[in-house]
Amino acid sequence: MGEQLSGLDLVDLSYADRPYVAVNFVTSLDGRAAIEGRSGALGSRTDAEMLQMLRTRVDAVMIGAGTMRAERYGRMVSDPALRQHRERIGLPHDPLAVIVSGRLDLPWDAPLFTDGGGRVLIFTASSAALPETETPVRVVRHESRVDIAEALRYLREERGVRALLCEGGPRLHRQLQASGSVDELFLTISPKLAGGEEPRPIEGDLPQPVEWELAWLLEERGELFARYRRAG
Ligand SMILES: NC(=O)c1ccc[n+]([C@@H]2O[C@H](COP(=O)([O-])OP(=O)(O)OC[C@H]3O[C@@H](n4cnc5c(N)ncnc54)[C@H](OP(=O)(O)O)[C@@H]3O)[C@@H](O)[C@H]2O)c1
Repeated sequence: MGEQLSGLDLVDLSYADRPYVAVNFVTSLDGRAAIEGRSGALGSRTDAEMLQMLRTRVDAVMIGAGTMRAERYGRMVSDPALRQHRERIGLPHDPLAVIVSGRLDLPWDAPLFTDGGGRVLIFTASSAALPETETPVRVVRHESRVDIAEALRYLREERGVRALLCEGGPRLHRQLQASGSVDELFLTISPKLAGGEEPRPIEGDLPQPVEWELAWLLEERGELFARYRRAG
């Protein structure tokens, strides 16, 4: 797995007007994206390591506010050795953490905000003021709702983001897919049944089905790690 991921040059695939976009999800065998409201119980340690490795290949990592509330993110690349690795391959030592939020109802006591390392950019439709945070936070405000295509253009043209990893959740993912902005999908299939009413990797309607080509499929202890590229 490390071999495959170390050869990933996502930043070289950037477009002029938006970043190259990869999405990562872990699902159960019955297609659920969480167990008891969180994704942590789905994936293995290898899956968590893969996610950390993917974060070393991009300029920015994007999540929706629902994912931030459920998962309470910390610094995106927590291992100093991986941050040094980013610098060795010409990337800033922390990826920009990007959060999309309608209401700015975020867990401000989560380590992403209190740790002081890294940088955060929030796209929001709220006019509320931000609390003081240890980690530097910048805000870009949109009218009534965040325009995802405009946010991608801003990231590319104003912040120099060439490759973006989106880690969900399901409602943000739907909008990215609906706007035709997802180039790759890293999908981990965990050998577990979740049952219940947990969300799927994508929640809501798409204008049409989106087709994918399998780029690789790896296996470890029954867990499948698929990489898909958008077909056509
Ligand atoms: N299995 C996995 O790999 C995985 C990955 C990620 C998440 N999850 C799971 O998914 C669940 C969370 O699902 P979710 O759908 O709520 O997550 P989400 O897509 O991360 O968050 C949805 C929220 O993002 C904000 N948002 C999204 N698009 C917006 C737009 N265009 N304009 C303004 N705000 C926008 C809104 O925030 P406001 O509420 O602030 O308005 C909305 O309520 C959790 O259980 C989490 O564990 C699983």
